[in-house]
Amino acid sequence: MKIGICNDHAGYEYKTKLVALLQKKGYEMVDFGTDSTVSVDYPDFAHKLAAAVEAGEVDAGIALCGTGNGMAITLNKHQKIRAGLAWNSEIGRLVKAHNNANVLVLPARFISYQMAARIVNTWLSTSFEGGGRHERRIAKIPCK
Ligand code: RB5
Repeated sequence: MKIGICNDHAGYEYKTKLVALLQKKGYEMVDFGTDSTVSVDYPDFAHKLAAAVEAGEVDAGIALCGTGNGMAITLNKHQKIRAGLAWNSEIGRLVKAHNNANVLVLPARFISYQMAARIVNTWLSTSFEGGGRHERRIAKIPCK
């Protein structure tokens, strides 16, 4: 499985650790930057990740910024993106099981790295429940 990842300066530290962790687990990682803690604008990186997910160049994405909101707001401007913000592993499970989030967003300044890793592991190992109400609801998300 190929996973795209992006971050701003606030997410850089956790991004580097998550890339190493996920590569060790056998995932192919595509890093859309930024590649330092120098201040940048999160939309520049969110749009690159979203375009890659929409084009099928990566199977899913992970995005990190300080609160997670800048990344989530930007990613969700893309019609095929369902970016979900998670700050504990139960939300990480539900955002896949119920919302089928194709991008997981993490608030790097508000969770520990250990929590970030737990959320990522949970999200990756959870399947969309599909069928019935969840399928119907996510089908209604795109703007007409
Ligand atoms: C950067 O200071 C911060 O604004 C950014 O990481 C993020 O929290 C924005 O939503």
